[in-house]
Amino acid sequence: MKGIILAGGSGTRMYPISKIYSKQLTLIYDKPLIYYPLSILMLSGIKDILIISNSETIPNYKKLFDTGAHIGMNIHYAVQAAPKGIAESFIIGDKFIGKDDVTLILGDNIFYGDIKFIYRAIENNEGATIFGYRVTDPERYGIVEFDNEGNAISIEEKPKNPKSNFAVPGLYVYNNDVVDISKNLKPSARGELEITDVNVEYLNRKKLKVEKIGRGVAWLDTGTPESLLAASNFFGVIEARQGLKVACIEEIAYNMNFINKEQLEKVIKDMPNSIYRNYLERILKD
Ligand code: G1P
Repeated sequence: MKGIILAGGSGTRMYPISKIYSKQLTLIYDKPLIYYPLSILMLSGIKDILIISNSETIPNYKKLFDTGAHIGMNIHYAVQAAPKGIAESFIIGDKFIGKDDVTLILGDNIFYGDIKFIYRAIENNEGATIFGYRVTDPERYGIVEFDNEGNAISIEEKPKNPKSNFAVPGLYVYNNDVVDISKNLKPSARGELEITDVNVEYLNRKKLKVEKIGRGVAWLDTGTPESLLAASNFFGVIEARQGLKVACIEEIAYNMNFINKEQLEKVIKDMPNSIYRNYLERILKD
């Protein structure tokens, strides 16, 4: 299983900071936003990851993660020249994906809580597995409609008259067919290759599984200044209370056995003196 993080988009809603860096680099409490989706892929056991972004931002991601070797990973980078849609990821990532299956997560999507359903979905996927999460503002998302037996019967992108309150979060698990399906898509009215069209194609082929996410899971929005502040507060409260960090990728790499104790020691030694470093030193001692 390969992993892709799409961290593109114009992000103009975050103007003026969007003039100098993309939203996925915004600090959520104590680390950049992209650490949170990256940690979801890592916790799912995915080590081969392609980060897709615009050409100005890729150098920043390279500074953050380099080749990923220091945390036992293989991180690759690719440019999306213009925000032409989420599904373009599979065309850009064609060579990287090769003959493998692929999980795509959007660089601004945060999941927290009882997320074993993600690991299970990645392990058991056959065609496509996507998720449904109850929201109060369905006009903003891809929306899935279920029949009385709980089967998905339609998916619509940002519908004016939503048929349900179940939004599709930015986490998608696909078999290798996704590459060909994406190559055959036509751009939508907003000029994008829509991920919703990919999911509709799997639905038509009867190869789509949609799993409802229960109430024990937080899928946090990061689309507005208010929601960014809420996410920071959320993780600030959790980290302060437990003394444990969320989405600390070096700690996850160690716990997942991507790296051993000596490798973690070396990673820590290369960090400047900081709260983040002090935390990892404590983890190492425990
Ligand atoms: C995109 C997808 C939408 C999905 C959402 C999740 O929306 O098109 O189907 O529900 O991500 O974050 P966009 O980022 O284009 O608003």
